Amino acid sequence: MNKKSGGDSHVKKTARRKLCLGIIYGGKSGEHDVSRCSAASVALVASKKYNVVCIGITREGLWYVQDDINVQTHPSFGQVLSLKETGTWLINMHSATDMLELHNKKTGKTVSIDVVFPLVHGTYGEDGTLQGLLDMIGVPYIGPGVLGSAVGMDKDIAKRVVQNSGMVAIVPFETVRADDITTSDDALLQKIAAMLPVFVKPANAGSSVGISKVTAVADLKKALQKAFAFDSKVIVEKAVDCREFEVAVMGNEKPLASAVGEVIPQHEYYSYEAKYVDKEGAKLAIPAQISDALALKLQQAACSVYTMLECQGMARVDFFVDKHDGTIYFNEVNTLPGFTSISMYPKLWEYSGVSYPKLIDTLISYAFRRHRVKKKMVKAFLSLKK
Ligand SMILES: Nc1ncnc2c1ncn2[C@@H]1O[C@H](COP(=O)(O)OP(=O)(O)O)[C@@H](O)[C@H]1O
Ligand SMILES: [Mg+2]
Repeated sequence: MNKKSGGDSHVKKTARRKLCLGIIYGGKSGEHDVSRCSAASVALVASKKYNVVCIGITREGLWYVQDDINVQTHPSFGQVLSLKETGTWLINMHSATDMLELHNKKTGKTVSIDVVFPLVHGTYGEDGTLQGLLDMIGVPYIGPGVLGSAVGMDKDIAKRVVQNSGMVAIVPFETVRADDITTSDDALLQKIAAMLPVFVKPANAGSSVGISKVTAVADLKKALQKAFAFDSKVIVEKAVDCREFEVAVMGNEKPLASAVGEVIPQHEYYSYEAKYVDKEGAKLAIPAQISDALALKLQQAACSVYTMLECQGMARVDFFVDKHDGTIYFNEVNTLPGFTSISMYPKLWEYSGVSYPKLIDTLISYAFRRHRVKKKMVKAFLSLKK
């Protein structure tokens, strides 16, 4: 690697020219369309201050740098960022800067990006894979790094880490692998039957994709098959009669928590349809109508979970609170939460005094700060070898 050092290089860059923010969106994910929706909101707002370059990834995984910010209307999601094929783009892995440089093979056009907002929800985006590529390139980016993204994406691992800490409860669950079912593990099926009603979920997915609520043993197989279509690992979790709360968290070493929000699904649960298809599918209460004591407990739990799951930059931490005994359960962490201007994460910050444009600025500064810390460590390692 031949990278120039440059502690505050982004500050110098801004003095010379507008900072270039690269928005990577779309992707090989069940949440491709949701990502394009989040990306449209960020691009339209950020372009008022930054030089924005949009990089769309198709469902097949092909990368296209867009000529401009073009928005189109999607039947369910409203405004989404368009994604046009613009020829073959190569990533410069031989850059001596801390930038993402993309080069068009045919036209010779080159774009240089100072900081990336990886706005790809779900697989190959929120799970550490894209973060790994950005680390290899050496460009600063918003949100958690490889480990935080990967752990946060895997519901099974995230729950086990939180359970191990003993600090926040988790709902009882069983992990099921594709093999367990093909070998018809009766003991496992009996265990699950004793937990009914249950939620069956792919371990790595989001937006309620592949999730089913099961109340009868007869429906279990179908639910497992559905979940296994998205991941080779599935979790089966006891259903809780609960209220659902969400806390937006940001920061690196010292995370900050927003006010608490509540999701009130108008369907049986917060399904894909309730989230995106039915416009009246869920109500968001910001702030949640709860006691100050419960709000504080949820904010503290959110910050603990954020740190123990190695999150940096931002994440939304979601909880269930049992309607009968008040137990707080950690449900999941979203390291790339929905980011449209009406999504819970930015809305919670807006309520807590951080406007949408200010939120983008703040997340960019966390990205640069983390990058600087990381660069210092690499230098220390190299100097030891001399
Ligand atoms: N154990 C559970 N008890 C009650 N409701 C649940 C449970 N697990 C999931 N749900 C419902 O399903 C929704 C989606 O589940 P979640 O684990 O958050 O997956 P996703 O990552 O797809 O959002 C939740 O918001 C909630 O409404
Ligand atoms: Mg969820």
